[in-house]
Amino acid sequence: HEADAYRTDLMTITRYVLNEQSRNPEARGDLTILLSHIVLGCKFVASAVNKAGLAKLIGLAGETNVQGEEQKKLDVLSNEVFIKALVSSGRTCVLVSEEDEEATFVEPALRGKYCVCFDPLDGSSNIDCGVSIGTIFGIYMIKDKENVTLEDVLQPGKNMVAAGYCMYGSSCTLVLSTGNGVNGFTLDPSLGEFILTHPDIKIPKKGKIYSVNEGNAKNWDDPTAKFVEKCKFPKDGSSPKSLRYIGSMVADVHRTLLYGGVFLYPADKKSPNGKLRVLYEVFPMSFLMEQAGGQSFTGKERALDLVPTKIHERSPIFLGSYEDVEEIKVLYAQQE
Ligand code: AHG
Ligand code: MN
Ligand code: MN
Ligand code: MN
Repeated sequence: HEADAYRTDLMTITRYVLNEQSRNPEARGDLTILLSHIVLGCKFVASAVNKAGLAKLIGLAGETNVQGEEQKKLDVLSNEVFIKALVSSGRTCVLVSEEDEEATFVEPALRGKYCVCFDPLDGSSNIDCGVSIGTIFGIYMIKDKENVTLEDVLQPGKNMVAAGYCMYGSSCTLVLSTGNGVNGFTLDPSLGEFILTHPDIKIPKKGKIYSVNEGNAKNWDDPTAKFVEKCKFPKDGSSPKSLRYIGSMVADVHRTLLYGGVFLYPADKKSPNGKLRVLYEVFPMSFLMEQAGGQSFTGKERALDLVPTKIHERSPIFLGSYEDVEEIKVLYAQQE
């Protein structure tokens, strides 16, 4: 039998994507090339994050972004890395980043047929204390790359061709879907390769964990308040759920995907559209949840049906185990 220490049949993310893409006859390798550039960006950010404290990369960059947030040095660095990697791939024509007020339109010579919406560094508030952070991305096909406009970017999430995130935590894990299920890859630093470690991830139908910032409870609407109450004081004699909230969406979603349960960032009186951004947080995570057998709801509709009108638009989000989200949908339906 194979020597356990050295699996010789290494399934790297590049090989995996190539296999998957070669199954579709008209594939010309463009998505494979685009994803390999995103993977390169993730490897770079992983190494920068791992030595942030040492390389004076923690703390503020002294700028604020369109969100009115103070940009961290790693926010700015990661954004530059991904913009450069995506443009140089020659497979993108328009880019939307949390850290840039306007969309980036790629110069004609380097234009390709994809739009990428991304959050270069998610969970920035956790950088300086060493808690897991990540990168989130969603990929769309653009109809006419020669005349790409902002309208082409403002598509409903269900049009995405691929989505994923990379979590920089105790290990560096990249979770990806190109529309045929969800797979997880772990970076082997000694090889510099992402190796398939979580094939065909399926989220449990029901979970025992709820994940929300309870500090906003004063401002929640009724259905959210009722759902959280039910988690803490179940009426049907079942045991209460556990609360787990990391404050980095990537880490909270990754735990939800693997362990089950529900992650919510609801609307509240202060922020009627919640906090999370549609194009590069809500959509990619909703796409992954559906591909893994879960679901994602905005309080009004299926998250992937939402049609954004602005590139930094926000939406409330309830995502995770199918049955748990179903309970939330019932509570919102009763409210109408
Ligand atoms: P980002 O760091 O990219 O701006 O995103 C932060 C988001 C998300 O990662 C997390 O779920 C949420 O902010 C936490 O918000 P609260 O601190 O309000 O709970
Ligand atoms: Mn931010
Ligand atoms: Mn974010
Ligand atoms: Mn961010």
